[in-house]
Amino acid sequence: MMESVNTGTSVVAATIAEREKEIFFPTYERFAIGRVLSASGPYIFTEDGGKYLDVIAGLGVNALGHSHPEVVKAVQEQAASFMHLSNLYLQDVQIELAEKLSALSGWSKVFFTNSGTEAVEGALKLARKYFGSPKKAELIGVSNCFHGRTYGALSVMDKEKYRNGFGPFLADADCLIPYSEENLTSKVSDKTAAVILEVIQGEGGIVEVPATFINALHELQQKFGFLIIADEIQSGVGRTGKFFAYEHYGLEPDIVVCAKAIGGGLPLGAILTNNRIASAFTPGVHGTTFGGNALACAAGLAVLRELERVCWRMLLLNQLISRAGLCQCKKNTRKS
Ligand SMILES: Cc1ncc(COP(=O)(O)O)c(C=O)c1O
Repeated sequence: MMESVNTGTSVVAATIAEREKEIFFPTYERFAIGRVLSASGPYIFTEDGGKYLDVIAGLGVNALGHSHPEVVKAVQEQAASFMHLSNLYLQDVQIELAEKLSALSGWSKVFFTNSGTEAVEGALKLARKYFGSPKKAELIGVSNCFHGRTYGALSVMDKEKYRNGFGPFLADADCLIPYSEENLTSKVSDKTAAVILEVIQGEGGIVEVPATFINALHELQQKFGFLIIADEIQSGVGRTGKFFAYEHYGLEPDIVVCAKAIGGGLPLGAILTNNRIASAFTPGVHGTTFGGNALACAAGLAVLRELERVCWRMLLLNQLISRAGLCQCKKNTRKS
């Protein structure tokens, strides 16, 4: 569609694609499908009458589809009360979401963020703060994993595409050959504060962590006492049939980060851990302006309630058919 654009010196006709190129940093290659006018369920609709099955799903965000009616209703109702208060006030909506998340995941402590990379950043900081010593501050990632675009996240990644030109990165951060037990054994030590991993690499090509790697990780954790951080930003919140994907693989993390689907389309992430580790973040030590924003929490609560409903329906159905539960929407017990 042609639009008139005032460039400052003259008024010219420009397509929306030209206007986009003109105004934005050149960071995104947008799909050449015309302007999106609306989206509903799994579909997006463009101005030229196109109807597309949106397999991108907001980059793993729209787990319930676009504009799920329960999410829309929750956001509208919350907006009518208040949209943002800051984390200095008590807010029912935040507490209800945190309690629901805790009940579904089994984790006792929650910290809300705006995004996935902010959750990763917070988790890496938490691991270092928990040990509280530069002698136990090493952070280790796994090759081909993706954790975000901030410096902490990039420091535990190895993809040159994302790191090239941005160094130097955090000191005492390293990356392993993909899921190699030998490499893990040679790299972790009593200096290691945390190992972060995706149990299913998303960006890395849908690669699953082998059981042998998880066993080696647990054995080395016994020996050296580091923390394990599970990045569930892409794989979590019901995406694989369990609340978190690590439950399929027998991984026992100490900290879990999630984002994307939990916000139902609004920016929301979370760091989950137990009471002992969470207590390393005392008042003022870590924080965020928008993390736990009321609208995002209202959307998150609607997402989790809907997931729970779907989950219980599946569970009932499974029990009726085979008397075997496939869906694990139940309380887990975590190490404390
Ligand atoms: C596994 C994983 N971790 C972290 C991130 C970063 O999340 P965000 O883009 O919300 O910062 C992503 C984003 O794609 C991801 O897939």
